[in-house]
Amino acid sequence: CGIVGYIGTADAKEILLRGLEKLEYRGYDSAGIAIANESGIHVYKEKGRIAALRDVVDTSEESEVGIGHTRWATHGVPSQLNAHPHQSTTSRFTIVHNGVIENYEQLRREYLEGVEMVSDTDTEIIVQLVDTFSKDGLSTEEAFRKTLSLLEGSYATALLDNTDRDTIYVGKNKSPLLIGLADGVNVIASDAMAMLQVTNEFMEIEDKEIVVVTRETAQVKKLDGQEISRDSYIAELDSTDIEKGTYPHYMLKEIDEQPFVIRNIITKYKDENENIKLDEEIRSAVTDADRIYIIAAGTSYHSGLVGKELIEKIAHIPVETHIASEFLYNMPLLSKKPLFIFISQSGETADLRGVLVNVKELGHPALTITNVPGSTLSREADYTLHTHAGPEIAVASTKAYTAQMAVMAILAVDAARAVGVEIDFDPLQELGIVANAMEIFTEKKEVLEEVAREFLSVSRNAFFIGRSLDYYVCMEGALKLKEISYIQAEGFAGGELKHGTIALIEEGTPVIGLATQKDVSLNIRGNMKEVVARGANPCFISMEGCEHEEDTVVMPAVHEYLTPLVSVLPMQIISYYAALHRGCDVDKPRNLAKSVTVE
Ligand code: G6P
Repeated sequence: CGIVGYIGTADAKEILLRGLEKLEYRGYDSAGIAIANESGIHVYKEKGRIAALRDVVDTSEESEVGIGHTRWATHGVPSQLNAHPHQSTTSRFTIVHNGVIENYEQLRREYLEGVEMVSDTDTEIIVQLVDTFSKDGLSTEEAFRKTLSLLEGSYATALLDNTDRDTIYVGKNKSPLLIGLADGVNVIASDAMAMLQVTNEFMEIEDKEIVVVTRETAQVKKLDGQEISRDSYIAELDSTDIEKGTYPHYMLKEIDEQPFVIRNIITKYKDENENIKLDEEIRSAVTDADRIYIIAAGTSYHSGLVGKELIEKIAHIPVETHIASEFLYNMPLLSKKPLFIFISQSGETADLRGVLVNVKELGHPALTITNVPGSTLSREADYTLHTHAGPEIAVASTKAYTAQMAVMAILAVDAARAVGVEIDFDPLQELGIVANAMEIFTEKKEVLEEVAREFLSVSRNAFFIGRSLDYYVCMEGALKLKEISYIQAEGFAGGELKHGTIALIEEGTPVIGLATQKDVSLNIRGNMKEVVARGANPCFISMEGCEHEEDTVVMPAVHEYLTPLVSVLPMQIISYYAALHRGCDVDKPRNLAKSVTVE
């Protein structure tokens, strides 16, 4: 979910709506705003997208103060009733909240007996508690602080009080939230992007702090009321980075940006002598480790699988890659000197943060590889490596994935050189070749669109098979297709298919075979023959050096360690066109959110 707030002198509702549009990547099941003016607090909310909310907002209602929310449902189905803002029964208080309150049942029993609840959400508990405590004689700020000190779980929240419509109360624990500062205007946002329209000066809020925000002030306090002074910073974001330009979809724009991203990474990680530029402390953290644990989710997990191969093959350090939500509750036996690497495009994924908190308690070092420095995972880890991909807006991740792998290749070589492992692989040079190879896909889109139309536009399911590094790319290809086209897709190890899953192959089932690894290229072609013999409709994607006549796409050769950075592009493009031809919402697929800040 995403939240915004505005207090200033301009039209609050338009700024809130625009801010929410920028935050739609965080969820779009329902949305709402509350605006305050002389006649009181007015709430508008609607199921569905921000566009639907726009239609119900009364444009004649003037206001200079307000809060807003876009929801990714956790407690309670997506509906107008469960959409935020929520109000207390007396309507005195209005709230928006991102996060999950774990002890809400207990708080309800303990403090809210007899209070009639309107929605099914845990959020309503917060606003009803503030109301109850203020009836007991506490000031709004005291009631807010007392309420937050009782909450277990995560929250980023903003509260309006109908008896003082020139103040917004803000609180945070585990969910991201920033305060934006300008002259006579202050704003609130889950992500700086939402409020770049107003300011680029932001202030961080730490867990278990509140901020009392007026037009002129933003006073940070601890939950016990102790005042805290906090410096602001300038967000290095350009608002044009977050526009689509002439592209029909962000996803297509972001696919096309990949060669530039890789060249950008080369520049950022190169010193004046053309050597790798990397923080000495990070180098030591990697070389001191007897084992590295990579923790990630979704697409970032798939890049972590490739990262394991890179670090093991290049730097000879053992690596395990784990799904964050599994590792959190089922931690394997750790080595004596582990280093944890958290890979996250957003730097906010709650599953990863849970692991990071545990790892810190155990006293182990942590490095975050992220596209958002200053994000929660970046701030809380000991070290950060930036993927420099620019804002990624489409929910399905593309350029962040390739950027993560590029940074891990550089990290692996840096570590290898530091410990004297002999390697004949210059990542900065080889990544330049990768960037050029990626560019050919701007011309190959038509062929890939044809594949998508012919193979996938009416298909129920699809399989991606590969071996070795190609297998990991197949997992990512299948995830892309599932996410945006809703075709049931599986990425499989070519050799494993015959041990069960081949039973699903029927006449016409699309199977995409990936062959970029010379040592297993013939094996995967053998596996493709097995499925073709059972009626499958095959599509071969290969790389120069492994190509055959039957191949639909042959990519230019790149170093064998870096093939995933190029071979994922046809998968991304096929998925894009499959979704398009099936009439799906490419950038905002159903049920998903880009940044999942709840476990
Ligand atoms: C969400 C997104 C995925 C993403 C995953 C991890 O589920 O829908 O596309 O891969 O989170 O996100 P992260 O920001 O941690 O890389």
